[in-house]
Amino acid sequence: MSSSGEAELLHTFKGIPFTTRSSPELLKSLDTFDAREDDILLVSYPKSGTHWLAGVITKLYDTQVTVTSPIELGDISRLEELNKLSSKRIIPTHLDYNMLPPNFKNKKCKMIYISRNPKDTAVSMFHYYRDNPNLPTVDSWTAFFDLFLKGNVVCGSWFDHFLSWEEHEDEKNILFLFYEDMKKDLPKVVKEITLFLNLNVSDDDIQDICKKSSFSEMKNDTEKENSDPSHTVCALTSNRKLIFRKGAVGDWKNYFTPKQNIRFQEIFNEKMKLSKM
Ligand code: A3P
Repeated sequence: MSSSGEAELLHTFKGIPFTTRSSPELLKSLDTFDAREDDILLVSYPKSGTHWLAGVITKLYDTQVTVTSPIELGDISRLEELNKLSSKRIIPTHLDYNMLPPNFKNKKCKMIYISRNPKDTAVSMFHYYRDNPNLPTVDSWTAFFDLFLKGNVVCGSWFDHFLSWEEHEDEKNILFLFYEDMKKDLPKVVKEITLFLNLNVSDDDIQDICKKSSFSEMKNDTEKENSDPSHTVCALTSNRKLIFRKGAVGDWKNYFTPKQNIRFQEIFNEKMKLSKM
C-alpha cells in the first residue's frame, strides 16, 4: 500500500481506520444521535453482503421505508439530515458495537448483523481496495492479506468487529445472519427476517422477493441503473457498480496459498477461541 495514499484517504478514530468520507466531527458526534424506536440497523463488516440484505429487506415492506446511506458517512450535517427523514429508517452501518450511538441500544432498536466467512470477505475487500478510488492502493494480494490479518484496513480488524457484535448475539433485538446461509437457502433466511421484523409476508411473495434478489438480478438492475447508482449502503463508495463482483462462496480458494491458509487458520483459532462460531 502506498503510504501517501493511506495518509490522504484514511484517518483513525478510536483506534479504527475510517476513510476521509467519515469526518472526525461526525464520528465524535455519533454519541448524541437521536434514534427512533422503529429504526432498523443493518450492520456489517464491509463486503459481507450488506447490499444484498438491504435489497431483500426493502422488498419486504409495503409501506414507505428509506434505506439511508451509512450513519458514519459524511460530515456533521449527516445527523440533521437523518433527523429530517419522515419515513421509517433502515440505517446501514459498519460501526463496531462499541462505537454504535448509545441511543440505538437504549431504545432497543432492531439490528441485523450480517457476517461472512472472513476469508471470502478478505478477497472481496482486496478487489474493492483495488477498484475503489476512495481507498488506498494495494500492490498485491500478498500485501493485502497481511494488512487484513493485522486489522490494518478500513473498519479495522474483522475479528474485533465480529466479536464486538457476537457478544450481544442473544439480545432479543439483534438478529445474526450469515452470507453463506443466504446463498444456501435464501427463502429460509428471508422467512427468519420477516419473523424478526414482525412482517406478514406470504410464502409466494418470499419466493418472488428471493428471485428478484439474486446476484444476477441485482447486478443487472445496477447496470441498467434501475436503482439509484449513487446510493450505496457501504460507507466506502458511492458507485454501486463496484459492489456486485462475483457473489460466490469459497472464492478465497482461488487466492489463498496453502501457507496463507495455515496462517489465517492459526490467527482465526487464537482470536476466535471464545467465539461460538
Ligand atoms: P464479492 O466481492 O465476493 O463478489 P457488501 O454489500 O457488504 O459490500 O458486500 C459485497 C459482496 O456481496 C460482494 O462479494 C458482492 O458480489 C456480494 N453480493 C451482493 N449482492 C449479492 C447477491 N444478490 N447474491 C450474492 N452475493 C451478493
